[in-house]
Amino acid sequence: MPLVTSKEMFQKAYDGGYAIGAFNVNNMEIVQGITEACREEKAPVILQVSKGARAYANHTYLVKLVEAAVIECPEIPIVLHLDHGPDFETCKSCIDGGFTSVMIDASSKPFEENIAITRQVVEYAHDHGVVVEAELGTLAGIEDDVKVSAEDSSYTHPEQVEEFVSKTGCDSLAIAIGTSHGAYKFKPGTKPQLRFDVLEEVSRRLPGFPIVLHGSSSVPQNYVEMINAHGGKMPGAIGVPEDQLRHAAELSVCKINIDSDLRLAMTGTIRQFFDEHPDKFDPREYLKPARANIKELVRHKLIDVLGCAGKA
Ligand code: G3H
Ligand code: 13P
Ligand code: ZN
Repeated sequence: MPLVTSKEMFQKAYDGGYAIGAFNVNNMEIVQGITEACREEKAPVILQVSKGARAYANHTYLVKLVEAAVIECPEIPIVLHLDHGPDFETCKSCIDGGFTSVMIDASSKPFEENIAITRQVVEYAHDHGVVVEAELGTLAGIEDDVKVSAEDSSYTHPEQVEEFVSKTGCDSLAIAIGTSHGAYKFKPGTKPQLRFDVLEEVSRRLPGFPIVLHGSSSVPQNYVEMINAHGGKMPGAIGVPEDQLRHAAELSVCKINIDSDLRLAMTGTIRQFFDEHPDKFDPREYLKPARANIKELVRHKLIDVLGCAGKA
């Protein structure tokens, strides 16, 4: 089937108590690892491209890689999504350039400005059959030297969501409930805990509406250890516990964003390969096991975390 929007996917996920995996893609091996797992597990999937991915790999290459995956995996629905679109122009360029879904991330702007920018993107996107994810609330910072604020100001304010969704017309909403981007999400020694009270209040106010979680990598410790054992230095890398993501997927969360876990799997595998084979220099020899490990990691997410295996 051709690329789809996430509309029907989210409806089924909401009703079925599971979530769709949204995985960031930057090169061919990552696209292949993700989509091979999804094809074998019969899982719908969102392949998402960030501004940085477009700068690195070029819009056309990424679109063509995803189109190749669509041809290779005709049985599963695939969405091509812009992750963290920074402005109207970037969103328009992706809508015009074959994406079926875009995120406009104006969450750092004041509330009224966020509404105005999001509304502009929604109008253009809907005119072109494309769906829009918006964001309300600020995800916690990731830098070691920045104190992660536990104050409510960094979480989504549930009392704002009805006005935001009705005024913007967005199709899904990313909220901040304690997840954060990157590999250092919680301080070592603290108990990672998402704010399910915020999620439940948002869902009560927006019944049936698909909620999105960013920053949802779990930072698998086997890959952190593999990286550290082979010349890397990632002390204290901690992610979101998988059982909490599973619980979120049973509630109103229909899309869960995972990028850092893929990077850890790829980097750990390649570091280990070079350590064990210092004489090798054929990229295919180290990218092949990296791709295979991404595939197995995604398979695990589909089955054990997202609950979307068999839902294509
Ligand atoms: O949320 C951000 C994603 O992990 C993409 O990261 O901007 O480095 O491509 P990137
Ligand atoms: P992670 O850094 O937790 O993988 O989050 C990815 C993400 O939210 C992409 O938008
Ligand atoms: Zn994100």
